[in-house]
Amino acid sequence: MFSKLPTPTLDPILSLSVAYRNDPRPEKVDLGIGVYKNSEGETPIMQAILKAQDIVVETQKTKSYVGLAGCEEFNQSMVDLLLKGTSAMDRVAAIQTPGASGALRMLGDLMKVAQPNTTVWISNPSYVNHRPVMEAAGLNVKHYSYFSPKTKQVDTARMLADLSHAGPDDVVLLHGCCHNPTGADIDFESWKVITELAQKNGFTPFVDIAYQGFGDGLEEDAKGLRYMADNVDEMLITTSCSKNFGLYRERTGAAIVVGKSVEDVTNARGKLLTLARATYTMPPDHGAALVKTILQDQALTAIWKQELSEMQQRLLNLRQTLCQELRNSHDTSQFDFIESHKGMFTVLGFSQDQMLQLREQYGIYGVGDGRINIAGLTERDIPYVAEAIVKVA
Ligand code: LMR
Repeated sequence: MFSKLPTPTLDPILSLSVAYRNDPRPEKVDLGIGVYKNSEGETPIMQAILKAQDIVVETQKTKSYVGLAGCEEFNQSMVDLLLKGTSAMDRVAAIQTPGASGALRMLGDLMKVAQPNTTVWISNPSYVNHRPVMEAAGLNVKHYSYFSPKTKQVDTARMLADLSHAGPDDVVLLHGCCHNPTGADIDFESWKVITELAQKNGFTPFVDIAYQGFGDGLEEDAKGLRYMADNVDEMLITTSCSKNFGLYRERTGAAIVVGKSVEDVTNARGKLLTLARATYTMPPDHGAALVKTILQDQALTAIWKQELSEMQQRLLNLRQTLCQELRNSHDTSQFDFIESHKGMFTVLGFSQDQMLQLREQYGIYGVGDGRINIAGLTERDIPYVAEAIVKVA
């Protein structure tokens, strides 16, 4: 049977990590996968996580099963972080999932059961895993205009014009903050307009918020999502602790549904649990146990918030320093847009060939779609990376 299989295509992000690891050049720089690095180029375990880990080791007395929905206190904490203060708090349900990709798949499967002919509209461009996951769930996928290659900002007029054609069988997938891959976020005004379109035309918003805290801060980053949740009947949300708790390998995320009534969300959650049972049964516990421990303890929460805010601040500084280097040492303001982008990523506007050139000639690994991970830079790399960008441009 295996001889009938086509040659597999490599994931454009994960395959880069392997290529980077095998590159013997000492000057190489990994700006591929979305992982935060400190000024030493390391991804340390956050202090809050280390402290929570000690508590969990001390207090956890069993490794017996937790349950299909994972840790309920964790689920409630995720709902609180995203939706506290909104009217959606009375009509929401969540399950813990293996990362946000697991959450995307569970919600994709849920849509396929609830509304089999759903078309999911994703931004052009979008996170490279959005289309594969939605298609794997058997859903149709369509693009809406999002990014202007010319201004390197959101093309709001074209985005809204496209979304005005989305109807009751459609789901519109939005990035809650820190758009992946472009770094260009929709403004609050656009969140309001998209909310009105959803109300008027009947599509369901789906917000993937995997980078809460990396843009303008924990609360600010959830502002658009909260407005929307307050004003629509139904909504789907995926979230992740990979980035803001640095729990990448622990696969810790959540799938959240907001519905018209408690009965609706109870049914949606029940279906999610049977889908999870048929897919992975239960999510891994460790990451969620750590996050729960932090968020249930005021002192640990304060430490975590401080660390997250330092990471966010460092990203802003890296963006500024890179732009300054490009301006001061290379006399170009062509890349000033980098400073206006949010979160880990920026799209440089380079072609596949230019990204290959960056990789082959300079050992600088960015994604083929032109995305670089600002969080992968160290202050030390900046002069080298700036020079390579100018040479390749
Ligand atoms: C990324 O976009 O680099 C991350 O979200 C990692 C992943 O799973 O693709």
